[in-house]
Amino acid sequence: MIPITKPYFDNDELDCLKKCLESGWVTQGPMTERFEELFKKEHDAKYAVSASSCTAALHLAMLALGIKAGDEVIVPAFTWITSASCVEYVNADVKFVDVEKETMNIDPCKIEAAITSKTKAIIAVHLFGCPAKMDEIMEIARKYNLYVIEDCACAIGTTYKGKKVGTIGDIGCFSFHPRKAITTGEGGMCSTNNEELYHKLLQFKNHGLSTTKKGDEYGNPFYMGIYDEVGYNLRLSDIQAAVGIAQFKKLDKLLKDRKRCADYYITQLKAEDKLLLPIALEGFGHTYQSFVVLLKNGSRELRNKIMLAMKEQEIQTRPGTIAITRTEFNKNKYGLKCGMFPVAEFCEDASITLPIYPNMSNTDMDKVIRALEVIF
Ligand SMILES: Cc1ncc(COP(=O)(O)O)c(C=O)c1O
Repeated sequence: MIPITKPYFDNDELDCLKKCLESGWVTQGPMTERFEELFKKEHDAKYAVSASSCTAALHLAMLALGIKAGDEVIVPAFTWITSASCVEYVNADVKFVDVEKETMNIDPCKIEAAITSKTKAIIAVHLFGCPAKMDEIMEIARKYNLYVIEDCACAIGTTYKGKKVGTIGDIGCFSFHPRKAITTGEGGMCSTNNEELYHKLLQFKNHGLSTTKKGDEYGNPFYMGIYDEVGYNLRLSDIQAAVGIAQFKKLDKLLKDRKRCADYYITQLKAEDKLLLPIALEGFGHTYQSFVVLLKNGSRELRNKIMLAMKEQEIQTRPGTIAITRTEFNKNKYGLKCGMFPVAEFCEDASITLPIYPNMSNTDMDKVIRALEVIF
C-alpha cells in the first residue's frame, strides 16, 4: 500500500529520546524549553508555548483571549472539526463562513456578513499548508476590533507574503500530529508576540498557576504558587519535545521534499479537464501538508468510486477534510441545512488527498498518477 503519509525518523530522534530518558526529566524540563526556543526562531515569534495538541493550543487561545458564553467566533465551514470545537469548549458560539474553492480557506468577502455585535474573533485556518488571505482578514479584524487566531495546524513553515504564519494574528496554533510536516506523535504549539497573552497561555495550560504573580511565601520549599484561574493540564511532555527537537533539525529538508513531491504531481498530473490542483497564489508559501485535488464535477459518488478504485490498486487516499457545517452537532445547535455553505460542501464531496511524504519516490508518485489516469 502506498500510504497517504509517512513520518520521517532517523537516529536523531533515538539519540534525543535517549538523552531525555537518561536525564530522568521527562516533562516541563529542558527539552520542552529547547523545543519552544527552536519553534520561536523558526516562526519569528517572540513567544512559543507548547501544548499537548493543536486542539489544546486552540482551546488555550480561546481561554487566553477571554472568549466566553455569549461571544461569537467566526470559523471557516471547511476545516478540521476542532477549529470550531474550541469555541464550544468556552461556551461561545460559532458563526460559520464559507470557503473559496481556489485556496479552500475562508472567503474574506463573506466574513463581514457574519459579524454581529457579539463577534469577538476570527479563526483563520491555513488549510493543508496554504495560507489564508491574511491581509483581507486582518483588515476586517481591525475594522471591527476582533481578535485573529491562526489555526496553523497544517502550516509549519508556511509563509504569507514572505512572513511565517502564526504571528500575523494574535495567536497561532500548530500541530505535531503524524500527518504534519514534523511530528511528536501528538503535540501542539501556540505562538504569539503579545507578552500578556503569553502568560495567560502558560497559566491555562498549567492548572491555572499564575506566572506573573508571586505570593509572600515565594522562594520557600512550601510555596505552592498563585492559582487565580481555573486551568487545565494541556502540557507537552519532554519525551515528546525530545522527538520534536530532532524533527526540527530536518524541518527545512522535509519541507523542501514535500515541495518536490507537490511540484512533481502538479507537472505530471495531466487531468486539467477533470481535476483542480492545489495552487500557490503570488506570495503564498504553500507547504503542502496535504496534497488535495478537487474533482471538477463535484460528484461525491464519483469521488468515492475513485477512492475505492485507488484502494484496490493499493493506494491510500482520504477526503481533504470535512464541511463541519454538516456535522450533527453543528446542524442541531445552529439549525444548519445542507446547501447553506455550498463551497465547503463541494470541497468535502469532491476532494481527494493523494499520498505525499518525505522521500516519496517518483516511481510511487507515477503509480498514483497512472492509477488516476486509468480510473478516469
Ligand atoms: C485545520 C486543523 N486544525 C486543528 C487540527 C487539530 O490538530 P491536533 O490533532 O494536533 O489536535 C487539525 C488536525 O489535523 C487540523 O487539520
